Amino acid sequence: MKIIGTGSALPKKVVTNDMLAEFLDTSDEWIVTRTGIKSRHVITDEHLEDLGAEAVLKALEMSGLQPSDIDFFVCSNVISEYVTPGLSCVIAEKVGLTCPMIDINCACPGFVYALDIVETYYQAGKIKTALIVCAEEPTRMASWQDRGTCILFGDGAGAAVLTAGDNMKGTLLHTEPDVYKIWQLQTLVETPFITKQEQNIPMQLKGREVFRFAVNSGTTQISQLLQDLGIALDEVSWILVHQANQRIIDSIVEYLGVPASKFPVNIADHGNTSSASCPILLDECNRKGMFKPGDIVVFSAFGAGLLSATSVMEW
Ligand code: UT7
Repeated sequence: MKIIGTGSALPKKVVTNDMLAEFLDTSDEWIVTRTGIKSRHVITDEHLEDLGAEAVLKALEMSGLQPSDIDFFVCSNVISEYVTPGLSCVIAEKVGLTCPMIDINCACPGFVYALDIVETYYQAGKIKTALIVCAEEPTRMASWQDRGTCILFGDGAGAAVLTAGDNMKGTLLHTEPDVYKIWQLQTLVETPFITKQEQNIPMQLKGREVFRFAVNSGTTQISQLLQDLGIALDEVSWILVHQANQRIIDSIVEYLGVPASKFPVNIADHGNTSSASCPILLDECNRKGMFKPGDIVVFSAFGAGLLSATSVMEW
């Protein structure tokens, strides 16, 4: 498939590191040095499905397609106010999509998984167009008393419209099952029959171990996939990696030995927006006119699971 439209939407509230330091034992200096994050957009009165719908409508507008032209809709989301129906259906009702749709929870690599899913449907001859939205509100998962997690996250949505084309060159997906590196628990509705104990536990993160996994999986997958595809690193125009920590990105740059200018970043202003991070960055770069036909664009992301995913596309 081929991307012909992108869109993104962010909550209006911008929270700076200094604002966090008003109620947390932290500082702008610590957060910038350890993560590269200066501020993030945080949901206040917005509903996530409205941000998702806004991103979708912008992507559709750029593509020139109507909702009725879309054959398949994939929504990537970790948490939202809706348990059911899937967030895809909630967004679909707002924008007028009536095609088949699915929701995936592949944590931060959700966009890359979604690209792989739509490409597989396309290759099977089932669809000619697809729409992906990644809508995330991780600021509702972390404890705001936990300075080790809440400072990392921001909210937002990113979308992409795809049509027929042989631009997707390949994808690598990998799992190292290890639940208790990034996890959160919530209690379910009580029944007269429940005898087990359930707990509400906000997001827990083993930061250093996730950091190592991110650098290792990103570096290995990008090198492996390009080698499998017979594409040299210096033929790659852009590498869009999950925006989780500037130091993770810097380490991948260093290990791969690629100029940092090939790695667009927006972590400083957005923080980690989970699976929305890649498509938000994609949309921001696209609207700046950074991608030229024939450019080789790599996406690489990692997250809870632990999952990692990398794909290569020709623009
Ligand atoms: O989408 C995937 C999601 N997760 C990630 O990508 C996370 C990957 N990991 C990371 O980005 C980094 O590990 C963190 C930014 C989370 C943490 O950075 P670190 O350099 O690994 O710090 P640390 O957790 O080892 O903590 C170092 C110190 C500790 O103090 P002590 O024990 O040395 O006295 C922490 O308590 O920094 C302290 N600390 C803070 N200090 C000020 C932790 N958070 C903060 C904070 N402000 N916000």
